[in-house]
Amino acid sequence: MLEKDIDHILFSEEQLKARVREIAGQIDRDFAGKEPMLISVLRGSFIFMADLMRSITLPCTVDFMAVSSYGAGTTSSGQVKITKDLSESIEGRDIIVVEDILDSGNTLSYLLQILQARHPASMKLCTLLDKPDRRIKPVHVDYSGFSIPDEFVVGYGLDFAEKYRNLPYIGVLKPCVYEAELPAD
Ligand code: IMP
Ligand code: MG
Repeated sequence: MLEKDIDHILFSEEQLKARVREIAGQIDRDFAGKEPMLISVLRGSFIFMADLMRSITLPCTVDFMAVSSYGAGTTSSGQVKITKDLSESIEGRDIIVVEDILDSGNTLSYLLQILQARHPASMKLCTLLDKPDRRIKPVHVDYSGFSIPDEFVVGYGLDFAEKYRNLPYIGVLKPCVYEAELPAD
C-alpha cells in the first residue's frame, strides 16, 4: 500500500478540485478572446493539466514537454535536459506553461528561457505548488495553486522515484522512505 508511506495529507481531492477550478476561472478571464496553448511539463503535471484543462471553458490546445533535472533523489541537480520537445511551434501563440511544483527554480528558469527564445506572443507560468523557501533562481509565477513549506510531497501526479503519482491527494512523504532508500544526489 502506498498510503503507509504518507505522513499526512496536505491537500485533499476536494481542496485540489476547488483550487483548480479557481485557477481555471482566472485563466478564462485573463485570456478571454484568445486561444491559449497549455504546455504541460511532464511527467509531474499531467494530472493537474488534465483537471485544469477540463475546467477551462475557452478554446485551448495542449502540448507536452519533458525535462529531467532530478536523479532518483529529492533535490534538484541544477542540470536540466530536454528529454521530449514540443510537437508544435509556439511562435506567436499565447502559451501557459503548466508545472506541478516550483522548488529551486532551476528547471523552470531554464525552460522558460528556452521557450521565450522561440517567440511566443505571451508566456505565463502556472504551477500547482510553490515552495518559495527553496528558491535558488528567481522565477515569476502568474498562477499558483498553493504555497507549501519545505517538505517533500507526492500524489496527484507528483512522484518520488516514479511512485505515488496515482494518489488522488497531495501528501507529505515520510522522510524515512527516502532517507532509507536513497543517498542524496
Ligand atoms: P526545481 O528545478 O528544483 O524547481 O524542481 C522542480 C521539479 O522538481 C518539479 O517539477 C518536480 O518534478 C520536482 N520536485 C520538487 N519538489 C518536489 C516534491 O516535493 N515532490 C515531488 N517532486 C518535487
Ligand atoms: Mg516535474
